[in-house]
Amino acid sequence: MSQDQFKKMAAEAAIPFIEPGSIVGVGTGSTVTHFINALGDIRHDIQGAVSSSEASTKQLKSLGIEVMDLNSVGSFDVYVDGADEITAHKHMIKGGGAALTREKIVAAVARQFICIIDDSKQVDVLGRFPLPVEVIPMARSYVARELVKLGGDPQWRQGVVTDNGNHIIDVHNLKILNPVELETHINNIVGVVTNGLFAQRGADIVLIGGANGVQTIK
Ligand code: A5P
Repeated sequence: MSQDQFKKMAAEAAIPFIEPGSIVGVGTGSTVTHFINALGDIRHDIQGAVSSSEASTKQLKSLGIEVMDLNSVGSFDVYVDGADEITAHKHMIKGGGAALTREKIVAAVARQFICIIDDSKQVDVLGRFPLPVEVIPMARSYVARELVKLGGDPQWRQGVVTDNGNHIIDVHNLKILNPVELETHINNIVGVVTNGLFAQRGADIVLIGGANGVQTIK
């Protein structure tokens, strides 16, 4: 079986966590694409979705799922999203698809974060996957210089503009031993919108697709 099939297995395993009549927070990426397809099958049982990107919004709407404005809904139960890396502490790096800021906002409002991954995403230490940082365009060079001071090798993801009109810097060669602290530190650099560390608000449940089926970590 392929990693994509493992992603699909994990995505479909998230469906039983969706309560009838609920609003569902929806992430972004190839694993979430499988989840949205599965959500399409139960679209009549849910109230609607809150989306973390234009891409997910488009797919949700194409399946007839109502996409609601986060400002017009209160808190909701479940946010489902993938990750680029995740540790045993359920700390993550996200943002490979450049949707990290909206993902972090929707995740903050949800009561539970369900992370759906294939087994290649599990790591002991975060940082082999370059850490995405969303920046206000005019601050790009300044933020990059500050990131060098942290020991990273920042590279501008050229040609990518986020849904919020900003740029992405990918920080290579970081060995992230204290993700909670680093998340705060990078977010405090002027010009940073947010970074792809999801450590202060990590996942609550992890569904991991692999050769032996789906493993659930709570
Ligand atoms: C999108 O910006 C990301 O945070 C994704 O959730 C993450 O990159 C995982 O993507 P895949 O599901 O495509 O591996």
